[in-house]
Amino acid sequence: MSDHTEPNTTLPSIAILGSGSMGSAILSGLLQPGVSVTGGIRVTNRTRAKAQELAKLPGVTSLALEDQPDANRTAVTGATVVLVAVKPAMVPDLLREIADALEPGTIVISVAAGVTVATFESLLPASIPVLRSMPNTPSVVGRGVTGLSAGTRSRSDDLAVGRAIFETVGTVVEVPENQLDALSTISGSGPAYVFLLIEELTKTAVAKGFTPEQAAVLVNGTFRGASELLAQSGRTPEELRIQVTSPKGTTERAIAVLQQANLTATFDEATDAALHRAKELAAGS
Ligand SMILES: NC(=O)c1ccc[n+]([C@@H]2O[C@H](COP(=O)([O-])OP(=O)(O)OC[C@H]3O[C@@H](n4cnc5c(N)ncnc54)[C@H](OP(=O)(O)O)[C@@H]3O)[C@@H](O)[C@H]2O)c1
Repeated sequence: MSDHTEPNTTLPSIAILGSGSMGSAILSGLLQPGVSVTGGIRVTNRTRAKAQELAKLPGVTSLALEDQPDANRTAVTGATVVLVAVKPAMVPDLLREIADALEPGTIVISVAAGVTVATFESLLPASIPVLRSMPNTPSVVGRGVTGLSAGTRSRSDDLAVGRAIFETVGTVVEVPENQLDALSTISGSGPAYVFLLIEELTKTAVAKGFTPEQAAVLVNGTFRGASELLAQSGRTPEELRIQVTSPKGTTERAIAVLQQANLTATFDEATDAALHRAKELAAGS
């Protein structure tokens, strides 16, 4: 694991196919000061409106399928890295479309949830290394956590390029592909778990008589402050929790109630349910 954006990262030419929420998040990482993409960035989308928005960004060539039906093939021609960020169901058709336009050795990186390396490798020439990733939504603000897996044809150099790309939007954890679905139940879905906890504590604050605005300040600020404290203090969450929990004090009473709720078992069950759904999706249901 390594930390946030390395200053002065140099990356080879990149095409992002499907620059929606996730594609654009990664694009914003590539456009940060200190990151230079030699050979340029090309992005594609279906609609002209979206392509025009991205065309305003410096150093970005933005193409719309609406204007140019072969935009994806144009974008990948001469690219060293191709990031596939369309919806999972669209991946096979997209790969068939670009397969013979890729130069041998082009690194194809998937962000598509649930689409396996095997699917990518079966639809692309044997000369194309494939990596599979699972980023999460805080990538939009440069605080993402991305799981990254090698394919059967990728080398360590290819993995290093993939790592450098996702490090422009946060932190990267390399795992074997068979752990990527499990990783997704933690960090991929994780932001939703945190938002749910924030929602619930906010309801409690309102029930205690605070206005919704006050409750939002109290709760959002507490989650943000606690996360920053955890990140900056070098201490474990347990140490920090104990620090706030004076013996025989008020927090101790609250923590005892929360511990009775057996959150570990609940999180085990919740992530098992997510994992089960990932298997169902992979089986096509
Ligand atoms: N969002 C997340 O938190 C997240 C997290 C992890 C992984 N992912 C993965 O990221 C991928 C994209 O998800 P998203 O949330 O970013 O979806 P999204 O916002 O809908 O983005 C998909 C983009 O693909 C474009 N597109 C559609 N067909 C295309 C084609 N044939 N060629 C090129 N571009 C095309 C769309 O353009 P138009 O809008 O112009 O039609 C759209 O901008 C998915 O595979 C998802 O599993 C997302």
